[in-house]
Amino acid sequence: MTVRRLAEIQPDSFDFTPENRAWVDRQIRKYPEGRQASAVMALLRRAQQQNEGWVSKPAIERIADILGMPYIRVLEVATFYTMYNLKPVGKHFIQFCGTTPCVLRGANDIKAVLERRVGPMDGISADGNFSWLEVECLGACCNAPMVQINDDYYEDLTPENFDKLLDDLAAGRPVQRGSQTGRRTSEPAGGLTSLTTWYGADGTEDRFATLHEQDNEAVLTAADRDPALTDALEARDTQSEPNHGRAAAEKAGQDRTQADMGHGGLDGQHAPAGGNARPEGSVADTGTRTDDPVGTNQIESGAVHASDPASDSDRQEQPPKPSAEADRGETGPGSPKAGPDAADKTA
Ligand code: FES
Repeated sequence: MTVRRLAEIQPDSFDFTPENRAWVDRQIRKYPEGRQASAVMALLRRAQQQNEGWVSKPAIERIADILGMPYIRVLEVATFYTMYNLKPVGKHFIQFCGTTPCVLRGANDIKAVLERRVGPMDGISADGNFSWLEVECLGACCNAPMVQINDDYYEDLTPENFDKLLDDLAAGRPVQRGSQTGRRTSEPAGGLTSLTTWYGADGTEDRFATLHEQDNEAVLTAADRDPALTDALEARDTQSEPNHGRAAAEKAGQDRTQADMGHGGLDGQHAPAGGNARPEGSVADTGTRTDDPVGTNQIESGAVHASDPASDSDRQEQPPKPSAEADRGETGPGSPKAGPDAADKTA
């Protein structure tokens, strides 16, 4: 990694275009008051995109002014990350990975092509089309060696296919992103070595999908032929519906038991009929709270049962059982013993 300095020749000024300024304002609004500096990286990247691929000194100062930061703080960010170019670059900016896995797979041969075709690192080719920079691992080691050109990755490079890639880019011809050898994503270069039963040696089959289609087809065909099967399927689906009536009765029973225990409301005095509010200091309210025993709250708040804190806590760890009445399902919508919550559930 070389020392990163600002370019010697700088423009006189920089400001965001009205469209980019609107974008910048949106980014800043993402952060809480006093944390606007967190938008610095996004703003630097936008400035680079607007400024033909590099960040100038006036751009750094403008961003610092917008974010209320000292200039040196923004300069530190811009010089730390290689994603920010501090001097003009070619139309196609190439980031060449020179880290060990890529080097073991022939990156030095790719570097030789760059030096031959573009010139020394940091320079711009005579036609203005290319410039390049050596960077650390770009995270595509499985398809090494590779380069990033502007925003895209080009992988499985050889001196030959890389030469052709540069020819096509210079001529404005369409190029293939990703692997240059036809490899699918990061599968083994010679085709699949596992799961070939399902996906085929070339990875183009998908037996899971085929079986799924066949399965659906079989069910549909059988149902078409036999109306009784359709009825049976519908009956099965109906039976598997959850029993909402019983669930509501159980819920109402639990709520009433809690209310009876003095857990019906935040102050223990104003419990709703269904008793569905959780008391302050309950296990359910605090998860691990142990410093505010429920019994103490009840005594202070004048709840019906001013019980021993320890025994009350014990009782909370045991889910209250629904009453026999609720078990029989007698507590339903409209019943004076059921709260509004129960009515909602059974509606
Ligand atoms: S080492 Fe080159 S992409 Fe990781």
